Amino acid sequence: MHLTSLLRAATAGLLAATALTAAAHTAEAADTLGSAAAGKGRYFGAAVSASHLGESAYAATLDREFTSATPENEMKWDATEPARDSFTFTSADQVVDHARGQGMSVRGHTLVWHSQLPSWVGSLAAADLRTAMNNHITQVMTHYKGEIHSWDVVNEAFQDGGSGARRSSPFQDKLGDGFIEEAFRTARAADPAAKLCYNDYNTDGANAKSNAVYAMVKDFKARGVPIDCVGFQSHFNSASPVPSDYQANLQRFADLGVDVQITELDIEGSGTAQATAYGNVVGACLAVSRCTGITVWGVTDKYSWRSGGTPLLFDANYAAKPAYDAVLTALGGSGGGGGGGGGTAACTATYATSAQWNDGYNGQVTITAGTTAISTWTTTVTLTSPQKVTATWNSTPTWDTTGNVMTVRPSWNGSLAAGASTTFGFTVAKNGSAAVPAVGACTAS
Ligand code: XIL
Repeated sequence: MHLTSLLRAATAGLLAATALTAAAHTAEAADTLGSAAAGKGRYFGAAVSASHLGESAYAATLDREFTSATPENEMKWDATEPARDSFTFTSADQVVDHARGQGMSVRGHTLVWHSQLPSWVGSLAAADLRTAMNNHITQVMTHYKGEIHSWDVVNEAFQDGGSGARRSSPFQDKLGDGFIEEAFRTARAADPAAKLCYNDYNTDGANAKSNAVYAMVKDFKARGVPIDCVGFQSHFNSASPVPSDYQANLQRFADLGVDVQITELDIEGSGTAQATAYGNVVGACLAVSRCTGITVWGVTDKYSWRSGGTPLLFDANYAAKPAYDAVLTALGGSGGGGGGGGGTAACTATYATSAQWNDGYNGQVTITAGTTAISTWTTTVTLTSPQKVTATWNSTPTWDTTGNVMTVRPSWNGSLAAGASTTFGFTVAKNGSAAVPAVGACTAS
C-alpha cells in the first residue's frame, strides 16, 4: 500500500482548520502555576523577552500563570551598558514595567558574567576594570532600586569538570578570586532590600563544581560577605538529567543559611518522561523550606533558547503540556490530577512496535487523555531517514518538508474521556535503517 501521497493530498485542506483548533486551546484549570505555588509560599516565574510581550497569547499565558519574571537577556551587560558609561534600560524597563503592572516580582539577571559582556570591558586594565565593574553594578541596581526581588549578582564564575576552579574571565583573570566578594559588597550598598544571589549551572547535584560554590558560600557566610541566595539554573536534558541528589544538594546549601532558588529550569524531552522530571524538581523545591521559588527559562517552547528540545511547560501553540500538569499537581493545584474536574486538557503519547519483518515494521502509538476529558489531540512521529511511512490508519497525518516528521491528529472525532485511550498505527519501510521512531509530546484541548 502506498497511501502516503493520497493522504497528503486529502489532508492538505484540513491543515489550516486543525492548526486553529490547536491554537484555540485554553487552560480551564481552576488553578494556575502562580496561585498554586503561592499556596506553598513560593513564586513561580518565567524568563521573559521584551520582544514577545506584544504577542497576545504570549502575554496572556505569562500574565495568567506566572508570579515572577526574569528578563531573559535585557539586563545583561551588553544590553544595559554596551559602551562605557552609556546605560540603556529601554528593553529591560519593558519587562519590569509589564511584570510589575501584573503584580509579579522580578528577578534581576545578571550583573557580572563572562558572557554577553561587551568587548570594551575585557580590554580594561585591572584598576579600571574594578571601577567599571562596581560602577556597572551600582548604576543598574540603582535604576531598579526597590523593584527587584533577587539579583543574580555573579553568574557562572566556576569551571565545569573536576577541578573546582574559577572560570577564566576578565574579572577572574585581572581581579582574582576577590572579584566575587567585591561584587556582592557593592551590590548590597546599591540596593539593600534586594536579595543577592550567586547563580550557576551544573551545580544541581553534589560534584566538584557545586562543592567549590558551596565552599565559597560557606566562607562568605563565615566572614559576613553579603550573600542571601544561591540560584540553581537547572537546565536538564538526557545527557544532563535531574541528579538523584538534587533535593539533598539544595538542602545542603540552604543549611548554610541562604535561600535557594531554581532560576532557569528547563528539561528537554516530551510526554510522561518530561512531566515526571518536572514533577520531581518541583517536589524537591517544596521539600526544602528555604527553596523560595522556581523560574522556568521561558514561557513557550516556541521561543526557548533550546526550542528544538521542547523543554518548557507550554508548547508552541501555548497549549499546556503534560509537564504543566505534573508541575501543577506537584504544587498541589487542581489541574493535573489531584483535582476532580475543571482541569487542563492534557494527553500522553506512547510508542510500541506492533509487528516487525525484514525490511519494515508497524508502529502503534497510544494516546491517553489526562485527568480531564479532551476534545482533540496532536502528536508527532519522527522517522530516521531513509525510513519512509508507507501506510497509516486511524489518524490524519501531515508531513513536514523533509518527509520525516509526521504530525498526527485524530481522523475524525478526537474526544476522549478522562484517562481514556485510543491508538493509531503506521507501516514503515526500513530502507536499511533499524531506528525506532520518536514520538513527540501529546497536546490536547
Ligand atoms: C540565554 C538566553 O536564553 C538566550 O536567549 C541567549 O542567547 C543566551 O543566554 N545561563 C544563563 C542565561 O544564565 O542567561 C542564559 O540565557 C542561559 C544559560
